[in-house]
Amino acid sequence: MRNVATWLAVTAMGATVVPVEPTPEGPNIDPERIEAAITPRTRAIMPVHLYGEPADMDAIGGLAAKHGLKVIEDVAQAQGSKVRNRRAGSLGHAGAHSFFPTKNIGAYGDGGAVTTDDDRLADRLRTLRNYGSKVKYVNIERGYNSRLDELQAAFLRVKLPLLDAWNERRRQLAARYDDRLAGIPGLGLPRVPQWAEPVWHLYVVRVSGGVARRAELMKALDAAGIGALIHYPIPPNLQQAYADLGVGKGSYPLAEKLADSVLSLPMSPHMPPHAVDEVAAVVRKALS
Ligand SMILES: Cc1ncc(COP(=O)(O)O)c(C=O)c1O
Repeated sequence: MRNVATWLAVTAMGATVVPVEPTPEGPNIDPERIEAAITPRTRAIMPVHLYGEPADMDAIGGLAAKHGLKVIEDVAQAQGSKVRNRRAGSLGHAGAHSFFPTKNIGAYGDGGAVTTDDDRLADRLRTLRNYGSKVKYVNIERGYNSRLDELQAAFLRVKLPLLDAWNERRRQLAARYDDRLAGIPGLGLPRVPQWAEPVWHLYVVRVSGGVARRAELMKALDAAGIGALIHYPIPPNLQQAYADLGVGKGSYPLAEKLADSVLSLPMSPHMPPHAVDEVAAVVRKALS
């Protein structure tokens, strides 16, 4: 429930977002809280594999089957990640991918794709992305102009075979962060379930002690020339864009707590390992 892009996709269709809290340490939807959010009007569950860590798709798939719902995965941050050795994006009825330049596989401009093993859905999506047309100038429904730009597709073709190797580099850097950041008071490290194989789109720590302490840490990192970001400082339900939903402060305390504590440290497959050591040293000094 913490990425506004997923909300925008739902509301753009005229559907209603029913947010579900993440697990207390995040980052993903807590399957144990899903059932209480299902109503007779619910059509789909949309797990977002946030920060590159896949959500608990076995539990979600079970709930969807029980209630006759579709599962639409948001794989924007998690291309290549796996749940029990099966790729995210192939675990629901459809998977939505982003090729925004900063993603694990990014184009040099905007781009995206949908993965599905449903031939009818694939056919409809191909029509929708092209003005609702299969045959030039014959429009069978109201579609969009949402084709993947061919130049971007050409870049992505070159990058796709490199994705697994780049993700492996991210994994090594994440393991190094885990090691170098261990035992720092008030710093929560990512805890990955043993069935999940994340791709570390981001390496996100949790800073306890409130937003002021996190701000101090960011200041220390900035002074050392290290960029750190907050993904995301304001949950979508607290954004002006969704003020009409009437789910204000206090409605989703776990998501709000994460918004006040998370911090993304530098992560890129092209980052040298010693850079992790340098970041970790600044974090340790600032928080000790
Ligand atoms: C989790 C998530 N979902 C959806 C999107 C939207 O992707 P795009 O910017 O390609 O539309 C993003 C990208 O910012 C994202 O991180």
